[in-house]
Amino acid sequence: MTATSTPMITIAGVSKSFPTPDGQIVTALEAVDLSIGASEIVSIVGPSGCGKSTLLYMVAGLVQPSNGEIGVAGRRVTGPDPQVGIVFQEFRIFPWKTVRENVMFGLELQRKGDARQRAEMADKYIQLVGLGGFENRLPKELSGGMKQRVAIAQTFACDPDVVLMDEPLGSVDSLTREKLQDELLRIWSESRKTIVVVTHSIEEAIYLGQRVVVMAPRPSRVVAAFDVPLPHPRTADMRTGPVMAELRGKIWDLVRGGIV
Ligand SMILES: Nc1ncnc2c1ncn2[C@@H]1O[C@H](COP(=O)(O)OP(=O)(O)OP(=O)(O)O)[C@@H](O)[C@H]1O
Ligand SMILES: [Mg+2]
Repeated sequence: MTATSTPMITIAGVSKSFPTPDGQIVTALEAVDLSIGASEIVSIVGPSGCGKSTLLYMVAGLVQPSNGEIGVAGRRVTGPDPQVGIVFQEFRIFPWKTVRENVMFGLELQRKGDARQRAEMADKYIQLVGLGGFENRLPKELSGGMKQRVAIAQTFACDPDVVLMDEPLGSVDSLTREKLQDELLRIWSESRKTIVVVTHSIEEAIYLGQRVVVMAPRPSRVVAAFDVPLPHPRTADMRTGPVMAELRGKIWDLVRGGIV
């Protein structure tokens, strides 16, 4: 699946500037063009501060572009849409709710199902992210990585068509991280959702994505998009194979060349 399939997300000439308290303007993104196909899984990498989170917030309708247009499923984005789920970089879960209650929360907001169906849906995703047995625990009893997994389960439980993930595995140890990458790919292949994952790990970006989009700062923009010529399902040998090495090399060349 490539950008030539039916676009689910279209980002056309999008710029975003923020006023600073001292009257200056910070340009977070400049003239970003990107098209993401329905059921595609795309990774985004780029240095800190290049505007990755801002781009996801705009696709989610939480922040308005200063210029340009964003469309999801053929409709212009003007505000939040239940069909677009987001896993925030600083995962947001309620400290007073249990794991199950947190995962059910989005379903309650969207009035999906009755209480029993919500609990069943929540438990399905709690299992998928490896938190079975922790349903009745409070966030203070969980590690950072476990809380992040609660946030992932909460987003997927709502069954949105598009899932935007902002460094979703950032605080997970490397062994759990590999397992969760495989789980995420399994959920993607079963559900055929459109998934956009921002990550700081080039290897993770390649392992997960059908495409890897590389962003650069000053001015922040998309500088390259590489197709990943690996079939899904991905297997452990691909983590260290020649395609991984070659693509990683190409992305590092952009970094070394001062482009990223
Ligand atoms: N609400 C805001 N007000 C002012 N400036 C902002 C705001 N949000 C983001 N910025 C600025 O926009 C730029 C991009 O920020 P953003 O958080 O999107 O970067 P990022 O690529 O996600 O970084 P990181 O990898 O560290 O998460 C930064 O210079 C940031 O300071
Ligand atoms: Mg960010």
